[in-house]
Amino acid sequence: MSIDKKNIVILISGRGSNMMSIVNAVNNGQIDANITAIISNRPDAAGIEFAEQQGITNLIIDHKEFDSRESFDQALAKEIDSYQPDLLVLAGFMRILTADFVEHFAGRLINIHPSLLPKFKGLDTHQRAIDAGEKEHGASVHFVTAELDDGPVILQARVPVLANDDVASLSARVLEQEHKLYPDAIKKLTSTTE
Ligand code: GAR
Repeated sequence: MSIDKKNIVILISGRGSNMMSIVNAVNNGQIDANITAIISNRPDAAGIEFAEQQGITNLIIDHKEFDSRESFDQALAKEIDSYQPDLLVLAGFMRILTADFVEHFAGRLINIHPSLLPKFKGLDTHQRAIDAGEKEHGASVHFVTAELDDGPVILQARVPVLANDDVASLSARVLEQEHKLYPDAIKKLTSTTE
């Protein structure tokens, strides 16, 4: 344990299974950091209930209550700043962020994307990997830059694509790896002993 633990804020939009794997990794000591807040842009995000049960500060900032992408991102950034994150973690946060927001958190903003970047940026990555006849697929943790799903890759996990895979089977195989990959990447970025 270290007295200068890093602060992490996690943004989610839905299920939150990656966020849960990060919380579990903090709870079991794999990651030595504080999760200072979990924020959802959707009121119905299932992950928020888990955050509440874990006693982690959590809140909803509903993007539908803002009249522009800019005003939402400004309000979100202001709220996030109050939790003083060393690392801002996008975990299934399904909003495109403005360049101003990305610049504000540059160097401490990371995302997990379900493909072997730079392949398959954007949506429907599993179907597109199957359609392209890929033999290998996976997930990437990367720093976020203003370009969608771009920015330096921190870690990747690979899985085989099997002959009879559909989106359900392939996404489940990738997700299992995501749940190890994201804690590993965050451990690497928050470790104060290296
Ligand atoms: C994850 O598979 C994540 O890689 C993906 O959304 C899912 C969220 O699941 N993210 C993206 O597609 C970002 N472009 P979760 O809410 O259970 O963590």
